[in-house]
Amino acid sequence: MTNDQREKGGSAGSGRVPTREEAMELLKQYNKSESLIAHALSVEAAMRHFAPRYGGDPDEWGIIGLVHDLDYELYPELHCVKTREILEEHGWPEKYIRAVMSHGWGICTDVAPESYLEKVLYAVDELTGLITAAALVRPSRSLMDLTAKSVKKKWKDKRFAAGVDRGIIERGAGMLNLEITDLITGTIEGMREVAGQIGLEQHGESQPGVTPKS
Ligand SMILES: [Fe+2]
Ligand SMILES: [Fe+2]
Repeated sequence: MTNDQREKGGSAGSGRVPTREEAMELLKQYNKSESLIAHALSVEAAMRHFAPRYGGDPDEWGIIGLVHDLDYELYPELHCVKTREILEEHGWPEKYIRAVMSHGWGICTDVAPESYLEKVLYAVDELTGLITAAALVRPSRSLMDLTAKSVKKKWKDKRFAAGVDRGIIERGAGMLNLEITDLITGTIEGMREVAGQIGLEQHGESQPGVTPKS
């Protein structure tokens, strides 16, 4: 950290509260991929949804969701590690950095999720991917008519969105003592708030040439 950055951001844990604007600025600085930005917005929305249920601050939870994969596009092999570096350089509080690190528990970090904030982040991260994939194969290509039941059907089909690690979602739900159905329902509800921004808002018309799959 340079002196300049120290003055701008303060030291980690200084109590400085990062704003959504700066989180978004960092996200756009490090990510050009539309799908990664949509993923960040999805996780942010899910975090905001669950925050009040666990006594958390939706702004704080949302900002952490927004930057959780900050380094993934440019430094996939240093995932999480590089985000710590970047956020430290910008003087982000340790609470935020630790939470981001914990989503990679057992994959790219050894930081286990401990707080509700961290457990929810861990649980919804992969799930947003499954929900997005499940919405995209609907005739409406929308989140608005997607149900938890429909997502659970896709969950059981191991070839569907095969890259989504169902085990991580199950572990996350277990940490929260939450039924998978509740976790899915809440995550869909959260993501609906940003459906327009993530391209999953269209409702009611079938896409020409697309065969409904569920
Ligand atoms: Fe990640
Ligand atoms: Fe992620």
